[in-house]
Amino acid sequence: MANLKNDGVEALRADAHRQYLIEFAQARPVFELPEPPKTATAHLWRWSDYYPMLQRAAGLLDVDQTFRRSFMFANPGLFPKPFMTPTLDGACSLYNPGETAPVHRHTPSASRFGLEGSGGFSIVEGEKCTLGRGDLVLTPNGTWHDFGNDSDREIVFIDVVNDPLSLALGATFYELGYAETDPATNAPVTKRVQTVRMPKGNSERLFASPGVVPKFVPHERGRNADASPMFVYRYDAIRANLEKIRDYDGSPYDGIIVEYVNPVTGAPAMPTMSFHLQLLRPRERTQVHRHTSSTVYCAVEGSGTTVVGDRELTWSRNDVFVVPGWSWHAHINAGDGDAVLYSVSDEAAMRKLGFFREQARDLAGDAIDLVFGG
Ligand SMILES: [Fe+2]
Ligand SMILES: [Fe+2]
Repeated sequence: MANLKNDGVEALRADAHRQYLIEFAQARPVFELPEPPKTATAHLWRWSDYYPMLQRAAGLLDVDQTFRRSFMFANPGLFPKPFMTPTLDGACSLYNPGETAPVHRHTPSASRFGLEGSGGFSIVEGEKCTLGRGDLVLTPNGTWHDFGNDSDREIVFIDVVNDPLSLALGATFYELGYAETDPATNAPVTKRVQTVRMPKGNSERLFASPGVVPKFVPHERGRNADASPMFVYRYDAIRANLEKIRDYDGSPYDGIIVEYVNPVTGAPAMPTMSFHLQLLRPRERTQVHRHTSSTVYCAVEGSGTTVVGDRELTWSRNDVFVVPGWSWHAHINAGDGDAVLYSVSDEAAMRKLGFFREQARDLAGDAIDLVFGG
């Protein structure tokens, strides 16, 4: 066996570097890992901290000049990258009455979730999707979208997008310059906000009836045929569904949890992102598990604690937090009322790639695989 410390090997490695070659034994620690490296950390952004920042920004940032009025949530483990996890980024935004953000489209998939106010909207491929508290609006890969506020009070929402995943895969394309054809002159006219061309309540009327889908409209609306053609998911409807099933045992790890799906296929609402809403009943304490997917949460109702490794993230209304991939975690609702968490993860992408692994602990406390390669 060669002595790796001898001068010959050192010289070999140095010469290799000059030719942009790295001798294998030097490279092994980069990728031969027994488990995924911990990069992102468990972190919580408290509403009482980030909302005042948005209010300050509202007095300083003109949306016409800054494109958005948003703060991106930057995970301390990834800072100064503006990412929440290795695959997901997200932001909080405040728009005053009458303000809009210009129309654009991109290959990363995006989502918006209403926190405050009822006059928010996002026009997605010509459909005006109103955005009230707890409503989810999807903007799948390649769909033109803008957003704004046409009420007389401020609105606040969060977005979660998979920019980091798209960047890592070398697949990011971002486009501005939306134009519509002027019917009088047939010439293209650049628009800041799309003209609404779909009927009011289009997504819900067509696709929100359980068990049936219309046969007379296409079921593919964006570039990606697998993405949901339903662009809006109403909080009230999904919350009512949680209520209807609250007496079931539920998931040992997530309580009464439902997934937002493509109503045509039953698959995750976006091919690369998974969206969930979960009810933690009074005094409910889930068992620990861990999975390779990383998750962004927002507390919608009630309060509770999510234990992530040795960290305790205590949350209440509108707090946003991250559970990084491959971290043991459990949720606790210690109160007498319900707690509801909205979450977005990269589970759908992980599963498609065969990278999803989930573990729980057996009665002896040993880790056991529930899924490996799913
Ligand atoms: Fe966007
Ligand atoms: Fe989990």
